[in-house]
Amino acid sequence: MLTDRVDDGVIAVEEILSQTINTDVNLLRDASLHIVDSGGKRLRPRLTLLSYLAAGGQNISEVVPLAAAVELVHTATLVHDDINDHSLTRRGKISVHAQWGRTFALLTGDYLFTKVYELMAPYDATYNILMADACVKLVEGETLQAEAAKNGSIDRETYKLIIERKTASLFQAAAKMGALLAGSEESIVENLSQYAYFLGLAFQMVDDVLDVVGDPDVLGKPIGNDVVHGMGAIVNQNGNTVLDRTKVTEKDPIKIMLAQLRESGAIEVAKAQASEWAHHAQVALSGIPESPARDELSSLIDLVVHRNR
Ligand code: IPE
Ligand code: IPE
Ligand code: MG
Ligand code: MG
Repeated sequence: MLTDRVDDGVIAVEEILSQTINTDVNLLRDASLHIVDSGGKRLRPRLTLLSYLAAGGQNISEVVPLAAAVELVHTATLVHDDINDHSLTRRGKISVHAQWGRTFALLTGDYLFTKVYELMAPYDATYNILMADACVKLVEGETLQAEAAKNGSIDRETYKLIIERKTASLFQAAAKMGALLAGSEESIVENLSQYAYFLGLAFQMVDDVLDVVGDPDVLGKPIGNDVVHGMGAIVNQNGNTVLDRTKVTEKDPIKIMLAQLRESGAIEVAKAQASEWAHHAQVALSGIPESPARDELSSLIDLVVHRNR
Protein backbone atom coordinates (compact mmCIF):
# COMPACT_ATOMS: atom_id res chain seq x y z
CA MET A 1 0.00 0.00 0.00
CA LEU A 2 1.13 3.51 -0.75
CA THR A 3 0.84 4.84 2.80
CA ASP A 4 2.99 1.94 4.04
CA ARG A 5 5.64 2.74 1.47
CA VAL A 6 5.67 6.42 2.35
CA ASP A 7 5.59 5.77 6.08
CA ASP A 8 8.47 3.31 5.69
CA GLY A 9 10.27 6.02 3.75
CA VAL A 10 9.71 8.52 6.55
CA ILE A 11 10.96 5.99 9.13
CA ALA A 12 14.08 5.48 7.02
CA VAL A 13 14.50 9.28 6.88
CA GLU A 14 14.33 9.40 10.70
CA GLU A 15 17.04 6.76 10.90
CA ILE A 16 19.32 8.66 8.57
CA LEU A 17 18.78 11.88 10.49
CA SER A 18 19.76 10.24 13.78
CA GLN A 19 22.75 8.45 12.25
CA THR A 20 23.98 11.61 10.58
CA ILE A 21 24.35 13.36 13.91
CA ASN A 22 27.45 11.46 14.93
CA THR A 23 29.80 14.04 16.36
CA ASP A 24 31.81 13.23 19.49
CA VAL A 25 31.35 16.83 20.63
CA ASN A 26 28.67 16.18 23.21
CA LEU A 27 27.12 19.60 23.21
CA LEU A 28 26.74 19.66 19.45
CA ARG A 29 25.26 16.17 19.44
CA ASP A 30 22.84 16.90 22.29
CA ALA A 31 21.65 20.17 20.80
CA SER A 32 21.29 18.64 17.33
CA LEU A 33 19.35 15.63 18.62
CA HIS A 34 17.22 17.94 20.75
CA ILE A 35 15.83 19.60 17.63
CA VAL A 36 15.97 16.63 15.25
CA ASP A 37 14.06 14.31 17.60
CA SER A 38 11.46 16.86 18.61
CA GLY A 39 8.67 15.68 16.34
CA GLY A 40 8.33 18.00 13.37
CA LYS A 41 5.62 17.30 10.83
CA ARG A 42 8.22 16.02 8.30
CA LEU A 43 6.23 17.67 5.56
CA ARG A 44 9.17 18.42 3.27
CA PRO A 45 10.71 14.91 3.19
CA ARG A 46 7.20 13.54 2.63
CA LEU A 47 6.98 15.87 -0.35
CA THR A 48 10.21 14.46 -1.77
CA LEU A 49 9.11 10.85 -1.25
CA LEU A 50 5.63 11.39 -2.66
CA SER A 51 6.87 13.37 -5.65
CA TYR A 52 9.28 10.54 -6.43
CA LEU A 53 6.43 8.01 -6.31
CA ALA A 54 3.98 10.25 -8.17
CA ALA A 55 6.58 10.66 -10.92
CA GLY A 56 6.85 6.89 -11.28
CA GLY A 57 9.82 6.12 -9.03
CA GLN A 58 10.03 2.47 -7.98
CA ASN A 59 12.90 2.17 -5.53
CA ILE A 60 12.07 4.41 -2.60
CA SER A 61 15.35 3.73 -0.82
CA GLU A 62 17.27 5.71 -3.47
CA VAL A 63 15.36 8.88 -2.59
CA VAL A 64 15.47 8.55 1.22
CA PRO A 65 18.84 10.30 1.82
CA LEU A 66 17.69 13.15 -0.42
CA ALA A 67 14.51 13.52 1.63
CA ALA A 68 16.58 13.45 4.82
CA ALA A 69 18.85 16.18 3.44
CA VAL A 70 15.82 18.37 2.76
CA GLU A 71 14.60 17.91 6.34
CA LEU A 72 18.07 18.66 7.66
CA VAL A 73 18.15 22.00 5.81
CA HIS A 74 14.76 22.82 7.28
CA THR A 75 15.90 21.82 10.78
CA ALA A 76 19.01 23.99 10.56
CA THR A 77 16.94 26.99 9.50
CA LEU A 78 14.59 26.51 12.45
CA VAL A 79 17.49 26.68 14.89
CA HIS A 80 18.76 29.89 13.32
CA ASP A 81 15.28 31.32 12.80
CA ASP A 82 14.49 30.97 16.50
CA ILE A 83 17.54 33.06 17.32
CA ASN A 84 16.44 35.74 14.87
CA ASP A 85 12.83 35.66 16.06
CA HIS A 86 13.73 35.41 19.77
CA SER A 87 11.46 32.37 20.02
CA LEU A 88 11.82 30.41 23.21
CA THR A 89 9.83 27.34 22.20
CA ARG A 90 9.88 25.11 19.15
CA ARG A 91 7.94 21.91 18.53
CA GLY A 92 6.62 22.05 22.07
CA LYS A 93 10.10 22.09 23.57
CA ILE A 94 12.55 24.77 24.64
CA SER A 95 14.33 26.16 21.58
CA VAL A 96 18.02 25.43 21.09
CA HIS A 97 19.19 28.98 21.77
CA ALA A 98 17.00 29.21 24.88
CA GLN A 99 18.60 26.03 26.23
CA TRP A 100 22.22 26.36 25.09
CA GLY A 101 22.56 30.07 24.28
CA ARG A 102 23.01 31.93 21.02
CA THR A 103 26.57 30.92 20.22
CA PHE A 104 25.89 27.22 20.49
CA ALA A 105 22.61 27.56 18.61
CA LEU A 106 24.45 29.26 15.75
CA LEU A 107 27.00 26.47 15.73
CA THR A 108 24.31 23.78 15.91
CA GLY A 109 22.58 25.29 12.89
CA ASP A 110 25.94 25.47 11.08
CA TYR A 111 26.62 21.83 11.94
CA LEU A 112 23.25 20.68 10.63
CA PHE A 113 23.66 22.73 7.45
CA THR A 114 27.12 21.30 6.88
CA LYS A 115 25.88 17.74 7.32
CA VAL A 116 23.65 18.33 4.30
CA TYR A 117 26.80 18.18 2.09
CA GLU A 118 27.45 14.67 3.33
CA LEU A 119 23.96 13.45 2.53
CA MET A 120 23.99 15.11 -0.88
CA ALA A 121 27.42 13.83 -1.92
CA PRO A 122 26.21 10.62 -3.62
CA TYR A 123 23.78 12.53 -5.85
CA ASP A 124 24.61 14.12 -9.21
CA ALA A 125 25.50 17.77 -9.58
CA THR A 126 21.94 18.62 -10.72
CA TYR A 127 20.57 17.75 -7.28
CA ASN A 128 23.38 19.49 -5.46
CA ILE A 129 22.80 22.64 -7.50
CA LEU A 130 19.04 22.54 -6.84
CA MET A 131 19.66 22.13 -3.13
CA ALA A 132 22.26 24.88 -3.02
CA ASP A 133 19.92 27.21 -4.89
CA ALA A 134 17.09 26.51 -2.42
CA CYS A 135 19.42 27.22 0.52
CA VAL A 136 20.60 30.48 -1.03
CA LYS A 137 17.00 31.58 -1.61
CA LEU A 138 16.08 30.65 1.93
CA VAL A 139 18.80 32.82 3.38
CA GLU A 140 17.89 35.64 1.00
CA GLY A 141 14.27 35.40 2.13
CA GLU A 142 15.15 35.47 5.82
CA THR A 143 17.42 38.46 5.15
CA LEU A 144 14.80 40.38 3.18
CA GLN A 145 12.35 39.70 5.99
CA ALA A 146 14.69 40.93 8.73
CA GLU A 147 15.42 44.02 6.65
CA ALA A 148 11.74 44.73 6.05
CA ALA A 149 11.00 44.19 9.73
CA LYS A 150 13.69 46.72 10.61
CA ASN A 151 12.18 49.28 8.26
CA GLY A 152 8.77 48.54 9.77
CA SER A 153 6.88 48.09 6.53
CA ILE A 154 6.08 45.21 4.26
CA ASP A 155 3.75 45.54 1.30
CA ARG A 156 2.09 42.62 -0.43
CA GLU A 157 4.68 42.26 -3.16
CA THR A 158 7.57 42.23 -0.73
CA TYR A 159 5.70 39.73 1.44
CA LYS A 160 5.24 37.39 -1.49
CA LEU A 161 8.88 37.73 -2.49
CA ILE A 162 9.95 36.93 1.07
CA ILE A 163 7.82 33.82 1.48
CA GLU A 164 8.71 32.64 -2.02
CA ARG A 165 12.37 32.70 -1.05
CA LYS A 166 12.29 31.63 2.57
CA THR A 167 9.67 28.87 2.34
CA ALA A 168 8.41 28.01 -1.15
CA SER A 169 11.93 27.51 -2.55
CA LEU A 170 12.66 24.53 -0.29
CA PHE A 171 9.22 23.02 -0.89
CA GLN A 172 9.83 23.35 -4.62
CA ALA A 173 13.30 21.84 -4.49
CA ALA A 174 12.01 19.00 -2.30
CA ALA A 175 9.44 17.98 -4.89
CA LYS A 176 11.54 18.69 -7.95
CA MET A 177 14.47 16.60 -6.77
CA GLY A 178 12.15 13.69 -5.94
CA ALA A 179 10.48 13.86 -9.34
CA LEU A 180 13.80 14.15 -11.19
CA LEU A 181 15.24 11.14 -9.42
CA ALA A 182 12.28 9.09 -10.60
CA GLY A 183 13.51 9.79 -14.13
CA SER A 184 10.17 11.05 -15.32
CA GLU A 185 9.46 13.28 -18.28
CA GLU A 186 9.99 17.03 -18.02
CA SER A 187 6.33 18.06 -17.85
CA ILE A 188 5.75 15.88 -14.78
CA VAL A 189 8.79 17.31 -13.04
CA GLU A 190 7.61 20.81 -13.90
CA ASN A 191 4.06 20.24 -12.66
CA LEU A 192 5.24 18.76 -9.37
CA SER A 193 7.64 21.63 -8.96
CA GLN A 194 4.85 24.17 -9.54
CA TYR A 195 2.57 22.28 -7.19
CA ALA A 196 5.15 22.43 -4.40
CA TYR A 197 5.90 26.11 -5.00
CA PHE A 198 2.25 27.06 -4.52
CA LEU A 199 1.90 24.64 -1.61
CA GLY A 200 4.86 26.40 0.02
CA LEU A 201 3.30 29.84 -0.45
CA ALA A 202 -0.01 28.65 1.03
CA PHE A 203 1.83 26.91 3.84
CA GLN A 204 3.66 30.09 4.92
CA MET A 205 0.54 32.24 4.59
CA VAL A 206 -1.29 29.82 6.90
CA ASP A 207 1.70 29.82 9.27
CA ASP A 208 1.47 33.60 9.47
CA VAL A 209 -2.28 33.40 10.11
CA LEU A 210 -1.63 30.86 12.88
CA ASP A 211 0.85 33.31 14.39
CA VAL A 212 -2.21 35.50 15.02
CA VAL A 213 -5.05 33.06 15.66
CA GLY A 214 -3.27 29.81 16.59
CA ASP A 215 -2.97 28.06 19.93
CA PRO A 216 0.67 28.09 21.09
CA ASP A 217 0.20 24.77 22.93
CA VAL A 218 -0.99 23.05 19.77
CA LEU A 219 1.53 24.82 17.55
CA GLY A 220 4.40 24.08 19.92
CA LYS A 221 5.77 27.56 19.30
CA PRO A 222 4.81 31.05 20.46
CA ILE A 223 2.23 33.19 18.70
CA GLY A 224 2.39 36.94 18.25
CA ASN A 225 6.01 36.73 17.16
CA ASP A 226 5.46 38.29 13.77
CA VAL A 227 3.56 41.30 15.06
CA VAL A 228 6.12 41.88 17.80
CA HIS A 229 8.97 41.90 15.32
CA GLY A 230 7.04 43.70 12.61
CA MET A 231 7.26 40.79 10.25
CA GLY A 232 3.80 39.62 9.31
CA ALA A 233 2.44 41.42 6.30
CA ILE A 234 -1.17 41.13 7.29
CA VAL A 235 -2.95 43.61 5.07
CA ASN A 236 -6.55 44.67 4.58
CA GLN A 237 -8.63 44.64 1.39
CA ASN A 238 -6.92 47.80 0.15
CA GLY A 239 -3.52 46.27 0.55
CA ASN A 240 -2.59 48.47 3.51
CA THR A 241 -0.97 47.14 6.64
CA VAL A 242 -3.64 46.99 9.32
CA LEU A 243 -1.53 47.37 12.41
CA ASP A 244 -1.30 50.78 13.99
CA ARG A 245 1.47 50.52 16.53
CA THR A 246 0.95 54.09 17.73
CA LYS A 247 -2.40 53.08 19.18
CA VAL A 248 -0.85 50.36 21.28
CA THR A 249 -0.46 51.84 24.72
CA GLU A 250 -2.07 49.17 26.88
CA LYS A 251 -0.23 46.89 29.28
CA ASP A 252 -0.07 43.84 27.07
CA PRO A 253 0.75 45.26 23.64
CA ILE A 254 1.00 41.87 21.98
CA LYS A 255 -2.52 40.91 22.96
CA ILE A 256 -3.84 44.27 21.80
CA MET A 257 -2.09 44.04 18.46
CA LEU A 258 -3.35 40.51 17.91
CA ALA A 259 -6.88 41.64 18.75
CA GLN A 260 -6.56 44.54 16.28
CA LEU A 261 -5.52 42.09 13.64
CA ARG A 262 -8.30 39.61 14.35
CA GLU A 263 -10.91 42.35 14.13
CA SER A 264 -9.50 43.97 11.00
CA GLY A 265 -10.71 41.36 8.51
CA ALA A 266 -7.09 40.77 7.54
CA ILE A 267 -7.22 37.13 8.59
CA GLU A 268 -9.98 36.48 6.09
CA VAL A 269 -7.99 38.20 3.34
CA ALA A 270 -4.95 36.10 4.20
CA LYS A 271 -6.97 32.88 4.25
CA ALA A 272 -8.48 33.71 0.87
CA GLN A 273 -4.99 34.24 -0.52
CA ALA A 274 -3.86 30.89 0.91
CA SER A 275 -6.86 29.20 -0.73
CA GLU A 276 -6.04 30.80 -4.06
CA TRP A 277 -2.49 29.48 -3.92
CA ALA A 278 -3.80 26.10 -2.81
CA HIS A 279 -6.00 26.08 -5.89
CA HIS A 280 -2.98 26.76 -8.12
CA ALA A 281 -1.26 23.83 -6.43
CA GLN A 282 -4.24 21.61 -7.19
CA VAL A 283 -4.28 22.70 -10.85
CA ALA A 284 -0.58 21.92 -11.26
CA LEU A 285 -1.17 18.50 -9.74
CA SER A 286 -3.93 17.72 -12.19
CA GLY A 287 -1.28 17.87 -14.93
CA ILE A 288 0.34 14.61 -13.81
CA PRO A 289 -1.01 11.07 -14.22
CA GLU A 290 -3.42 9.77 -11.60
CA SER A 291 -1.87 7.61 -8.87
CA PRO A 292 -2.23 6.95 -5.15
CA ALA A 293 0.79 9.23 -4.58
CA ARG A 294 -0.89 12.02 -6.50
CA ASP A 295 -3.99 11.60 -4.30
CA GLU A 296 -1.80 11.86 -1.24
CA LEU A 297 -0.16 15.05 -2.56
CA SER A 298 -3.61 16.40 -3.19
CA SER A 299 -4.73 15.73 0.39
CA LEU A 300 -1.57 17.47 1.60
CA ILE A 301 -2.97 20.69 0.16
CA ASP A 302 -6.09 20.49 2.36
CA LEU A 303 -3.98 19.51 5.31
CA VAL A 304 -1.75 22.55 4.85
CA VAL A 305 -4.65 24.95 4.46
CA HIS A 306 -6.74 23.60 7.34
CA ARG A 307 -3.98 22.75 9.76
CA ASN A 308 -3.79 24.06 13.31
CA ARG A 309 -0.16 23.07 13.89
C1 IPE B 1 7.97 25.90 10.28
O1 IPE B 1 7.79 24.82 9.43
C2 IPE B 1 8.75 26.95 9.57
C3 IPE B 1 8.03 27.59 8.47
C4 IPE B 1 8.47 27.60 7.26
C5 IPE B 1 6.80 28.28 8.74
P1 IPE B 1 6.97 23.53 9.85
O2 IPE B 1 5.63 23.94 10.39
O3 IPE B 1 6.96 22.57 8.74
O4 IPE B 1 7.82 22.98 11.07
P2 IPE B 1 7.91 21.52 11.69
O5 IPE B 1 9.03 20.84 10.97
O6 IPE B 1 6.62 20.81 11.51
O7 IPE B 1 8.24 21.76 13.13
C1 IPE C 1 10.50 30.85 9.12
O1 IPE C 1 9.30 31.53 9.12
C2 IPE C 1 10.70 30.25 7.81
C3 IPE C 1 12.01 29.63 7.66
C4 IPE C 1 12.45 29.43 6.49
C5 IPE C 1 12.83 29.22 8.80
P1 IPE C 1 8.65 31.77 10.52
O2 IPE C 1 9.53 32.58 11.38
O3 IPE C 1 7.25 32.21 10.34
O4 IPE C 1 8.62 30.27 11.11
P2 IPE C 1 8.17 29.91 12.56
O5 IPE C 1 6.80 30.51 12.75
O6 IPE C 1 9.17 30.48 13.50
O7 IPE C 1 8.11 28.41 12.57
MG1 MG D 1 10.21 32.15 13.34
MG1 MG E 1 5.73 31.69 11.72
